[in-house]
Amino acid sequence: MGNYNFDLEVNRYNTNSLKYDIKRGRPDGIFPLWVADTDFKSPDFLIKALIDKANHGIFGYSEPLDSYFKALKGWYQRHYNVSIDTSKIRLTNGVVFSICQLIRSVTNENDAIIINEPVYYPFKASILANNRKVIINELVNRNNKYYIDYNDFEKKIIDNNVKAYILCNPHNPVGRAWTEEELLKLIEICKKHNVFIISDEIHGDFVYNGSFNTILKYLDNGFAICSALSKTFNIPGLQISHTYIADKEIYNKFLHELDVVGYSQLSIFGLVASEVLFNQGDEYLKELKEYLWNNIQFVKEYLEKKLPKVKLIIPEATYLLWLDFKEYGYSDAELRNIITNKANLWLDDGIIFGKSGSGFQRINIALPRKRLEIALDNLYNAFK
Ligand SMILES: Cc1ncc(COP(=O)(O)O)c(C=O)c1O
Repeated sequence: MGNYNFDLEVNRYNTNSLKYDIKRGRPDGIFPLWVADTDFKSPDFLIKALIDKANHGIFGYSEPLDSYFKALKGWYQRHYNVSIDTSKIRLTNGVVFSICQLIRSVTNENDAIIINEPVYYPFKASILANNRKVIINELVNRNNKYYIDYNDFEKKIIDNNVKAYILCNPHNPVGRAWTEEELLKLIEICKKHNVFIISDEIHGDFVYNGSFNTILKYLDNGFAICSALSKTFNIPGLQISHTYIADKEIYNKFLHELDVVGYSQLSIFGLVASEVLFNQGDEYLKELKEYLWNNIQFVKEYLEKKLPKVKLIIPEATYLLWLDFKEYGYSDAELRNIITNKANLWLDDGIIFGKSGSGFQRINIALPRKRLEIALDNLYNAFK
């Protein structure tokens, strides 16, 4: 038994939880396994640091100190084996927020931006909200593993004069941890055609086998990284993330875009939390990953034994599983109806991640195993 108890069940109702308290038209009592936050309690050392700050009793405008960047640098060195130049980092309140500012920093209205679908749906929404064109490079599913079609990627870039690429690294929802070889091929194509890479690396700490390949390892310029500890330690409610921008000119444009939307200081609780986690979170992450990997094995064995028609795309990263229900032959509306009303589960419909997500569902398995088992039993009873 480790230091952290991920079996502990914590009641999240009536806590302003997006996952548990907001229904968006779903039935009361539905079991939510959609949005990507975990049901695990944060480590005690984090809770203590936040209480100490609260006890100080003054919550004025706040800025990161040198110690924050030192802590972040240490994390990148220990976990990704890379030396990060922290002078190129700007902290913000979230990854999607930063992606939107970057879109405006590196492209103009009506410019084309390419993404690999199925992918985290706010990519498309952010491009459209900023009046840019979405270009889709479909991932290719071969034997339940997803790959990049480089020829199509390059052709679409040329045909549409694409200016930027939003890379999901590792990939939500298909769970790929892109290899060095794959990333280098993508980078080569982007460099050749002057395509700016925005790499969303928020799931980088959840690579199960081997270490995470941040694109920082392979590039000097023409890219930005958006990341945070919010998935790693379940602190999205504390609203803090970091954006690394390699190019000075783009960095300055980014600062300008922050001015345009009137964003400046950070939440003091986010700053306190991230710093203490960068410094002290290694053991928690190690145990969490073990627990999640066992959850993944649990789902795999459960499905193989009891629901063999549901195919699990085995993830190399993330705690979000991509489930293929196509063998049942249901339409997306039918599938959603059965999962919502018969299984009483709220999963993310595959179709919202792109056309190629049709027939899939995404399930969040970052919860105590006993609760996960209940969810799978619900699924089994609805589909058996
Ligand atoms: C790939 C990816 N990027 C970004 C986010 C959200 O980040 P933030 O809450 O910092 O905007 C998520 C959350 O699910 C995600 O999966």
